[in-house]
Amino acid sequence: MTIIFIVMTARFYFPFLLCLVAACSTRQSEINPVYLDFSAPLEDRVEDALSRMTLEEKVSILHAQSKFSSAGVQRLGIPDISCSDGPNGVRQEVLWDDWHHAGWTNDSCVAFPTLTALAATWDRELAGQYGKALGEEARFREKNIILGPGVNIFRTPLCGRNFEYMGEDPYLASQLVVPYIRNVQKNGVSACVKHFCLNNEETYRNQTDVYVSDRALHEIYLPVFKAAVKDAGTWSLMTSYNKYEGDYTSHSHKLLSEILKEEWGFDGVVVSDWGSIHDTEAAVKAGMDMEFGTSGSYSDYYLADPYLAGLEEGKFDMNELDDKCRRVLRLIFRTAMNPERPFGSLCSDEHYETARKVGAAGIVLLKNNGGLLPVRKDVHRIAVIGENALKKMTIGGGAASLKVQHEISILQGIKDRAGDDVEVIYARGYVGSPTTYQDGILVGTELIDERSADELTAEAIQVAASADIVIFVGGMNKDGGQDCEGFDRPSIDLLYGQNELIHALAEANPNIVVALVSGNAVSMPWIDTVPSVLQTWYLGSEAGHAFADVLFGDVNPSGKLPFTFPKQLGDSPAHYAGKAFPNPDRNDYAEGIYVGYRWYEKKDIQPLFAFGHGLSYTEFEYGQAKVSRATIRKKGSLQIRVPVTNIGKTAGSEVVQLYISDVECSLDRPEKELKGFEKVYLLPGETKTVTFNISEDLLQYYDDTAGTWVSEPGEFEAKIAAASDDIRRTVRFFLK
Ligand code: GLC
Repeated sequence: MTIIFIVMTARFYFPFLLCLVAACSTRQSEINPVYLDFSAPLEDRVEDALSRMTLEEKVSILHAQSKFSSAGVQRLGIPDISCSDGPNGVRQEVLWDDWHHAGWTNDSCVAFPTLTALAATWDRELAGQYGKALGEEARFREKNIILGPGVNIFRTPLCGRNFEYMGEDPYLASQLVVPYIRNVQKNGVSACVKHFCLNNEETYRNQTDVYVSDRALHEIYLPVFKAAVKDAGTWSLMTSYNKYEGDYTSHSHKLLSEILKEEWGFDGVVVSDWGSIHDTEAAVKAGMDMEFGTSGSYSDYYLADPYLAGLEEGKFDMNELDDKCRRVLRLIFRTAMNPERPFGSLCSDEHYETARKVGAAGIVLLKNNGGLLPVRKDVHRIAVIGENALKKMTIGGGAASLKVQHEISILQGIKDRAGDDVEVIYARGYVGSPTTYQDGILVGTELIDERSADELTAEAIQVAASADIVIFVGGMNKDGGQDCEGFDRPSIDLLYGQNELIHALAEANPNIVVALVSGNAVSMPWIDTVPSVLQTWYLGSEAGHAFADVLFGDVNPSGKLPFTFPKQLGDSPAHYAGKAFPNPDRNDYAEGIYVGYRWYEKKDIQPLFAFGHGLSYTEFEYGQAKVSRATIRKKGSLQIRVPVTNIGKTAGSEVVQLYISDVECSLDRPEKELKGFEKVYLLPGETKTVTFNISEDLLQYYDDTAGTWVSEPGEFEAKIAAASDDIRRTVRFFLK
């Protein structure tokens, strides 16, 4: 009976027996070529994978295999790493070995506002939402690294890439870049903070050789990268093209090893900019980990066969190679082989909502005399004038150029919002740049207009004169020599005869609003004849809707300038006293720490519009500021509280800013420095108390003789402000 039973039931347990036998007989490594125990600690998985790799495989993961990807290890089941630009949207697919479009039809994205607009929101929460949305788009598009954020400091208003960066103050940029990076990386996508460092001009970006004091390096140019590494935990970082103290930054041991890896403890991957490595030994020993964009075949890359040959000859240290590989494997296990990562999403309603919210919150109301804005209910005829009301701004500008699913033009946004009983009439006003190129493809050809300037002006004046209000939409664009990578601007003046046209329009109709689409400061010779001015940045896919939200008052503007608008170029620290610009050789940052408002306040130069300036459709009153204690000790802290009230009739947000002045210091320090900000939303009549926590580290300066951060006991002032030139309350305290 027993035998019959076993035979009868064998068909149920026989398969399990087979598996059991198979499992016992096959060596562990044939089942899981790489340590597939995803629950294992990251470092264990890194060590396990590294131990299985040959010398050739170790070198092969350190450099590109295509324009935007690097190889994994096929034999071990380690996937390739794919990356994509850029800081405000996921670029379209390009050809394997080439910059040109690949012509896919499923790679359109949402373009978020460029990072100057994000910086202008002064909103940490929004910066986090921005990073989440961007990370989801990159994740859905199967990108393991998104090549952003760009965080280089505004040193000159002529720098072509300022629109991709976050302004002139390291504290503001640091506070916003941290939530951005953290939320990108929650998608299992690596941020890649760039360009490390001192990439502050474009024309000679491949050869300019920056010399700057250690104090300015640590107080102005490094803090945002330090925050990205130490506070946000960025998994990768991109070097810049320029030199620093005679070495390319990609060859700088001081920057990449001493500061980045040793002092800051960076455990991620140092990625080159595309073609920024120029020598194998220099790059290897400086601390480069991954090479992209070098010309020639991938095997000829500096970190490819030349590095392998050097290793085989004993010229390079195998431990140094292993450190590079550990970093790349860590990146792979954090991204492509991260089992916990979500699946992302593309062009979702939430992403468009985020783009619109950031855009509306970033628009800065620079001037609004007579309350021309928001557009009043009794307005029935709106004249919209200017090329930038139509021009696609998500295209062009270099690496940040995007192929979007849609881009709502400013004209379209105004028409959508104006309603049926309002007539919106458009006149071109000027022809600046009717077409644009995106990675070699001509786009935007619908703007070609053969009419003469006189004809265009005459039409614009006639349209303006007939309207209740004129909205002039001009500014800059993404063409070379405007806001564009690889070029600096020839001047800070508006091009295409816009200044003359604005004067003529203001003559024709004094109810004129000038909206500047740009990522940089421009001069405004017409500022006294124009009652309202909006700085509207490059707002991306939802530009028209975000702009209309503010124009019609659905959103009360709350943006504040992340950089100064100088009255003239010569006032700027990078151009003061006729300093050479751009600079192909030794490039001394002689102004040191005095960048942006730090400079204008030291030289007592009145700017056109100050750092932190931005108006609202309502008004805010600051109550008495109270300090929790008169003195703080080392490692101690104190609180400053200030009640803020909305005394107007419209709900709105105010960015309450905290600047610190070191009244008595053995070293020269800026008159004041931004060390805190809080954005508060207030209903009409509502009061909220804003609290700032002052800890000793906010009082420090970098002592470059001691090579460390120090604070000196003595008197300090805390200035509570609505703008750097609008101090509302001052309190004193002492550091013991
Ligand atoms: C460019 C840019 C960099 C970009 C990279 C890839 O030259 O400097 O910001 O991410 O190459 O396009």
